[in-house]
Amino acid sequence: LRIAVFASGSGSNFQAIADAVHAGKLDARIELLVCDRPQAQVVRRAEAAGVPVHTFRPKDYPSREAYEQEILGLLKSKQVGLVVLAGYMRILTHVLVNAYWGRMMNIHPSLLPSFPGLHAVRQALDHGVKITGITVHLVDGGLDSGPILAQRALEIRPDDTEETLSARIHPMEHELLPWVIQQIADGSMDLERYMNLKPKDGI
Ligand code: GRF
Repeated sequence: LRIAVFASGSGSNFQAIADAVHAGKLDARIELLVCDRPQAQVVRRAEAAGVPVHTFRPKDYPSREAYEQEILGLLKSKQVGLVVLAGYMRILTHVLVNAYWGRMMNIHPSLLPSFPGLHAVRQALDHGVKITGITVHLVDGGLDSGPILAQRALEIRPDDTEETLSARIHPMEHELLPWVIQQIADGSMDLERYMNLKPKDGI
């Protein structure tokens, strides 16, 4: 399975995927890292892992569609079959969403549909829920919406802060994301049945 990972920040989830590939636990190849912040730590992680990198500055382009067209050209030339959003902090347009319909996933640190958007861990704490978790879902052009592929839950402790809770959530993400990709790679998770869903209005 040829995959591309999109990330904007530290890239610990990118690292988990790269490590799983390296360890032979994930039957996939990371063909490309796409990053909208050239200074991000994930870029250094990709270089260290020998993964080709495409960085760009959104403000150098006339529109979101313009930089996505460029990315789409790269994905096609590398025959990427699955796009994994792992901490990519940009809303996608129809250019990439439609081209990778049913073949693009995202990881989000809450039990969706609760707490979409930014600061999901803080949102869960502020709301006072006692159980939260992580979600891997297909991307349909909405904000953290789209068919749910896998979730894991954990309990929030009375003394949890955003830091302590994130510190327990991150390792769960690092397990779940490579696991879901492997399920797709070995055919035990079939994304075909999602292909007929309609794109969200407005995309
Ligand atoms: C993760 O918590 C992920 O769920 C969210 O962004 C964070 C990325 O972390 N979408 P990292 O860059 O992989 O360390």
